[in-house]
Amino acid sequence: MSRRKLVVGNWKMNGLRAQLAEVDAIDAFAAGHSAVEVGLCVPATLIALAAERAKASFIGAQDCHMKASGAHTGCLSADMLKEAGAGWVIVGHSERRADQHESCADVAGKAVAARQAGLNVILCVGEALKTREAGEALPFVLDQIEQSLPEGAAADWLSIAYEPIWAIGTGHIPTMDQIAEMHGAIRGKLAELIGADAAAAMRVLYGGSVSGDNAAEIFALEDVDGGLVGGASLTAAKFSPVIAAAH
Ligand code: PGA
Repeated sequence: MSRRKLVVGNWKMNGLRAQLAEVDAIDAFAAGHSAVEVGLCVPATLIALAAERAKASFIGAQDCHMKASGAHTGCLSADMLKEAGAGWVIVGHSERRADQHESCADVAGKAVAARQAGLNVILCVGEALKTREAGEALPFVLDQIEQSLPEGAAADWLSIAYEPIWAIGTGHIPTMDQIAEMHGAIRGKLAELIGADAAAAMRVLYGGSVSGDNAAEIFALEDVDGGLVGGASLTAAKFSPVIAAAH
């Protein structure tokens, strides 16, 4: 099963209009590396502006509400994000699971809402350091997959991102054996939940301190289909080597 590599930047709460020049530069680099699907999940305030400029890459959002509309002050529906120009959305990022107390059921609901709006989805899972140290990382993450996986999960609209929380923004990454073991286990769990063929088609990204220095080694692992990249996606200078590594 050949899966096209997917490399997605997550700008988190970073980026003003001044950074749109980086969107242009990243998009230009993506145009020359079309073997890789490249995207940038920018702050919602930049989605429309970035989507007008990005030609070879897609623009995504970082979260959506699970309802289509209603009395939810400050929240954005998947339809709103789609209309603004987003093609994708991240759901279940560990920062939202922690800061906004999002449960796995919430995450599954958001993924379904995104799908209904016509958005593709990156569903994030990952364990905390104490879970890893207790030897519980595998069962914890596989349970998150089981509890967060939306109805109708399929590779044509859903990808998974494994992001160990302790690797996010820290510069510490798991060993290649640990990444390979987790990604293999995730694919096995997906096979159990949606069938072997659907699982074989689904992209499973690694996230957590991906950079130009480690991307090639990580992306070469059999069950790693690209990356979700925070800090190293903020500038074309840092993101380009990551895209090149996936190419
Ligand atoms: P990082 O963030 O690349 O800065 O570690 C990754 C993420 O949280 O998606």
